[in-house]
Amino acid sequence: MSPDRPAAVVVLAAGEGTRMKSAIPKVLHRVGGRTLVHHAAAAAAELEPTHLVVVVGHGRDEVVAHLAEVSPKAATVVQEQQLGTGHAVQVALAELPELDGTVVVTYGDVPLLTADVLQGLLDTHGAQGNAVTILTAHLADPTGYGRVLRGDGDAVVGVVEQKDATDEQRTVREVNSGVYAFDAVALREGLARLDTSNAQGELYLTDVVGHAVADGRPVGALAVQDTWAVEGVNDRVQLAALHRELNRRTLERWMRAGVTVLDPASTWVDADVTLERDVVIEPNTLLRGATRVATGATVGPNCQLVDTEVGAGAEVSNTTSYGAVIGPEATVGPYTFLRPGTRLGRGAKAGGFVEMKMADIGDGAKVPHLSYVGDADVGEGTNIGAGTIFANYDGVEKSRTSIGAHSFVGSDSVLVAPLTIADGAYVAAGSTVTGNVSAGELAVARGKQRNIAGWVARRRAGTRAAEAAAAAERAAAGAGKQAHEERSDG
Ligand code: UD1
Ligand code: CA
Repeated sequence: MSPDRPAAVVVLAAGEGTRMKSAIPKVLHRVGGRTLVHHAAAAAAELEPTHLVVVVGHGRDEVVAHLAEVSPKAATVVQEQQLGTGHAVQVALAELPELDGTVVVTYGDVPLLTADVLQGLLDTHGAQGNAVTILTAHLADPTGYGRVLRGDGDAVVGVVEQKDATDEQRTVREVNSGVYAFDAVALREGLARLDTSNAQGELYLTDVVGHAVADGRPVGALAVQDTWAVEGVNDRVQLAALHRELNRRTLERWMRAGVTVLDPASTWVDADVTLERDVVIEPNTLLRGATRVATGATVGPNCQLVDTEVGAGAEVSNTTSYGAVIGPEATVGPYTFLRPGTRLGRGAKAGGFVEMKMADIGDGAKVPHLSYVGDADVGEGTNIGAGTIFANYDGVEKSRTSIGAHSFVGSDSVLVAPLTIADGAYVAAGSTVTGNVSAGELAVARGKQRNIAGWVARRRAGTRAAEAAAAAERAAAGAGKQAHEERSDG
């Protein structure tokens, strides 16, 4: 991204996050479908640093395993005890070769901090030739943050923590975001001089700023206009606020790219979702994970699509889908449940109250109503009647059912796997099919119908049914007599 890439980006993520009140390490909580630390590592990686290091501590095993998956280029360093932000950076640098150039320090719990903001910090740092450049923000309520102290001519002279600040210093509204660009040498020298003589007994990274100033090195600041970018997550209320704000930004980006979002307030789109032009998202829809929606498709209302692919011009409403591939021009819903391994071909249909799993439905094939289709291949143009069940499980093993092209399965059939039904074959409604059906055959697998005359009169005498039957018989007899007379008159 940058012509002058940083020597290192250090992401601090060792803290416990007590206020989350969670068994999950703070940086593994998610906004926009990504963990907090994934957001941080992704923004850092975009700067293409020579070294990308994440300092881990609490929940380190889980955090390390997660980073290996989502950000394999990030190295992790363990900070056994959280002795302060300065200590965390000391621990990180101890693992790296002696650096030369710029070191960026950022946090693992600031999900809206983008690579653009970090690049702006680097640009200012380079342009001003600073030893330290602090990313700052002007806040209406600066409570809790370190305050940026400025001296003659507005020059930055230091950062003081809330707990160490005088009443006068606490009136300062410019706060330290905790994100900095350092000259590697100034950072190393400053870290070597840290001590714990402060209100919290910690090694403060912020004291490096004061040391640089004392040494006469140039120190600067870049104030962000967009204060969301430096907002960290400390509790679940902030987590929700940042999730909503990220979603608002994501939706705005897609709307500007040609996607219609009818109700942004009830639409949630994860950061890694991709949408094409002229996609329409109806209200109350969640698009999650690696979901992709192609041009002209309509999704919603009331959908949750996870890791799902929707083809061009498809229509998906009132549907829950995990890992399905929905073909172009296909229609899905309402009240449809698609599970992993489902693939719908071009123009295929999965209708109301249909559940599918590991089902490959051919082009133009239709499963319109009330069916379970599991472990199945359904050929092009085949129609599956209402209420058909693919019985794929015998209590021990799952087996597959394969149906050819342009076949027809009558309503309320049970297809007992393993089973093959060939091309152009028919199954009569209400069949329980256990044997293969060849091309062109009709399978009828149900009790043959027999009607027992007079059964109601004998076995249900005195009931409304018996009365109705008797009346119907009298009427039929009368009509028959009249017809006979008319024919005789003719
Ligand atoms: C820090 C800054 C403060 C700034 C604020 C912005 C210092 C001394 N103060 O304060 O000026 O306004 O951030 O949010 O730096 N961490 C570690 N190891 C540690 C301590 C912290 O990895 O030993 C990580 C935490 O996980 C967290 C980040 O560093 O992601 C900040 O730590 P935190 O304790 O929240 O710092 P603050 O006291 O808020
Ligand atoms: Ca904090």
